[in-house]
Amino acid sequence: MISAIHRFPDGFLWGTATSSHQVEGDNTNNDWWDWEHQPSRINKGHTSGKACDWWGGRWEEDFDRACSDGQNAHRMSIEWSRIEPNPGDWDEDALDYYRQILQGALGRGLKPVVTLHHFSNPMWLADQGGWTNQEVVHHFEKYVRKTVSSLKDLVKIWVTINEPNVYAVYGYLMGLFPPGRKDLDITLQVVHHLVLAHAAAYHAIHEIDPGASVGMTHYYRGMRPARSMNPLDRWVTGIRHRNFNELFPRAVHEGLIRYLGRKIKVPQAVGTQDYFGLDYYTSELVAFDLFHPKEIFSRGFFPDDAVLSGTGFIMDAPEGLWKALTYAHSFHLPIYVMENGVEDSSDHMRPRYLAHHIRQVWAAVNFNWDVRGYFYWTLVDNFEWERGWTQRFGLWELDTETQERRVRPSANFYGEICKAKGLSSEMVAKYAPEILDEMFPGKGPGELISR
Ligand code: BGC
Repeated sequence: MISAIHRFPDGFLWGTATSSHQVEGDNTNNDWWDWEHQPSRINKGHTSGKACDWWGGRWEEDFDRACSDGQNAHRMSIEWSRIEPNPGDWDEDALDYYRQILQGALGRGLKPVVTLHHFSNPMWLADQGGWTNQEVVHHFEKYVRKTVSSLKDLVKIWVTINEPNVYAVYGYLMGLFPPGRKDLDITLQVVHHLVLAHAAAYHAIHEIDPGASVGMTHYYRGMRPARSMNPLDRWVTGIRHRNFNELFPRAVHEGLIRYLGRKIKVPQAVGTQDYFGLDYYTSELVAFDLFHPKEIFSRGFFPDDAVLSGTGFIMDAPEGLWKALTYAHSFHLPIYVMENGVEDSSDHMRPRYLAHHIRQVWAAVNFNWDVRGYFYWTLVDNFEWERGWTQRFGLWELDTETQERRVRPSANFYGEICKAKGLSSEMVAKYAPEILDEMFPGKGPGELISR
């Protein structure tokens, strides 16, 4: 018997999110493959290799898992380098295979949400200067037109570009992603091209399928001044927030890029999102620091008493998701939480992280905000970019040697949530008993009944 439940509406999307390069394997024709095979680029020299072997067909068994775990949606991405291996040369077999995958999702009751660019680029595009070359806008639009025309009967929710703020900063300012640049002017140029490419894709998709819902996903990092009354900490927190979290949402809302005091008008981008796609993982404290000029004299860190994930990458900070949802809600658009998750190979922290964050989404739904779905990152452990296989975000554990999957308790927990369309006190008592009192104050399920 359920004593207390945070219930979600029927029709709410419950899913997990993946991306092509991280799960497919053998993506030999893109810039990430090339990057992984250069010395010292990836933690421990890891490579994506076969990844989760989806291109070899294991998407079927993983979709079976998602489906029997009660999910009703899946967010995945299309690999540009497979669709267009050489400029203007379309691989119809690859498109057919994506068609099969999407039909496989639909056949299992998983509504597909499809991303068109998730960090990886065809090698030929990278060789032409990638996102620094304005030609990318034209190339991206052509690829989007081809892909969307071929798959429009199967997909109704499109994500043009995943986390453009992370992509631009990691690839062109911090040098962590290919092409490994560290140049502020180039970063601004890339930001400009990303906004132009998104706008072109948005208009193209609507021309091809007027009923489609189109947006991008925005990575939002919670930020708080380290010393709440310190004016310098407050000042740098504001700068970081505006130039990272707000950069793209504002650009595609008002058609104006504002980056570190510079402004670029992009009128064709005004109002080019039909929903707000929100990716939230964690929050940090921000302090003014003269020794960090490259980070605008600021430093982000976790507090000493933080509950941290396996490799110290993520702090359990659900209040940051609340802030992120509040920000997303200010755009008056439907909201999807397109990514939220934690790396935790032992599955020690994940159950409580899940409960904490789903509760924030529930609170927003109950404020009558138009939140339509939640996608946990990710279904099965996958290749985590510059961190290789050292971080495990999956509900299911992957043995990369044997391709064997093993269930983690969180998969069962999330499965119960999806099936019940809600988070109950029994579930929390079973999977994250240490937070039962906090989530359902003072009550084990028994106590609720006996009072
Ligand atoms: C990215 C994913 C990535 C995840 C965890 C997100 O920013 O979109 O591709 O795997 O973070 O690192």
